[in-house]
Amino acid sequence: MQSVRLPCPLPGRDRGLYIRAGPTPTEGTDSIGGMSAQAPEEPNPYGSAGEATGGAAAEPATPHTAGSSPSPRRVRIPHLHAMKTEGRKWAMLTAYDMYAAQIFDEAGIPVLLVGDSAGNNVYGYETTVPVTLDEMVPLVRAVSSAAARALVVADMPFGSYGASVEQGFTSAVRLMKEGLAHAVKLEGGSPMVPLIRALTDAGIPVMAHLGFTPQSEHQLGGYRVQGRGDAAEDLIAEARAVQDAGAFSLVLEMVPAPVATRVTEALAIPTIGIGAGNGTDAQVLVWSDFAGLRSGKAPRFVKKYADLRGTLTDAAQAYAADVESGAFPAAEHSFDS
Ligand code: KIV
Repeated sequence: MQSVRLPCPLPGRDRGLYIRAGPTPTEGTDSIGGMSAQAPEEPNPYGSAGEATGGAAAEPATPHTAGSSPSPRRVRIPHLHAMKTEGRKWAMLTAYDMYAAQIFDEAGIPVLLVGDSAGNNVYGYETTVPVTLDEMVPLVRAVSSAAARALVVADMPFGSYGASVEQGFTSAVRLMKEGLAHAVKLEGGSPMVPLIRALTDAGIPVMAHLGFTPQSEHQLGGYRVQGRGDAAEDLIAEARAVQDAGAFSLVLEMVPAPVATRVTEALAIPTIGIGAGNGTDAQVLVWSDFAGLRSGKAPRFVKKYADLRGTLTDAAQAYAADVESGAFPAAEHSFDS
């Protein structure tokens, strides 16, 4: 693995979900993921609307201190790189709306992905293929506006970047300007190298996505583990290609665990696994899966951390029964005059 020095303080978190600060070296000039990690982040000299209004983005000036260094409010890409260097794992979740974003942000999830899995989880499509940029932008904006600390990554939907660098650039700019995203994610390896270069050169951080890429589901012949056998070497080469083009991180979906571990060891940027074993630097789950919102059988790689479907079903049935029996609304829910 390449060695990188990323001298930035890390955002601390009282409940330990964020990470304590590492040392803050005074020099270091390495560049990774298309960005220099030379100095710790300074406060924003221009202030921000969130600070002024006490809106969703507002937080105390020094929200979480990490050691003796003031910690930045927002999780930044250098923090993710520093965690890799220090061998600390982190969790990413998808979010598509304000409440989920707020809850996961407050729980200390450092990166939120507004995935095009919104196709299956918001819009009710069978796959991610029909999702459009117009459908993504409002979801991205809702999540970005609600998350005070998390880095918000917006998925580029199928058909919004594959035609040309120009098309991809225009789509990414919409997600950043209208969606207020902090980074974009796109699927694919070496064919995406020119676009990843163009985006990172223009200041748009890119999360890459290899292994099973749902937008190519029809081409791949369905939901199949990728990178098995001889294909492992190709996958590692593709991973290096997207890193060299400037991607700041890489999602590995449905890849054999030993192959994902090899990719992780070969790269300086963090890998984020889903169905890729526990050798990656981070993990991602679709929130409706991890919270038990969906019906039917979940994929093998999902761990259900809650039963929201059961909870909401019980709540809806209790409410309906109360209305039918006249128990709701009670006096305390009514106005006498
Ligand atoms: O769209 C999505 O949610 C994703 C994750 C599964 C990585 O791409």
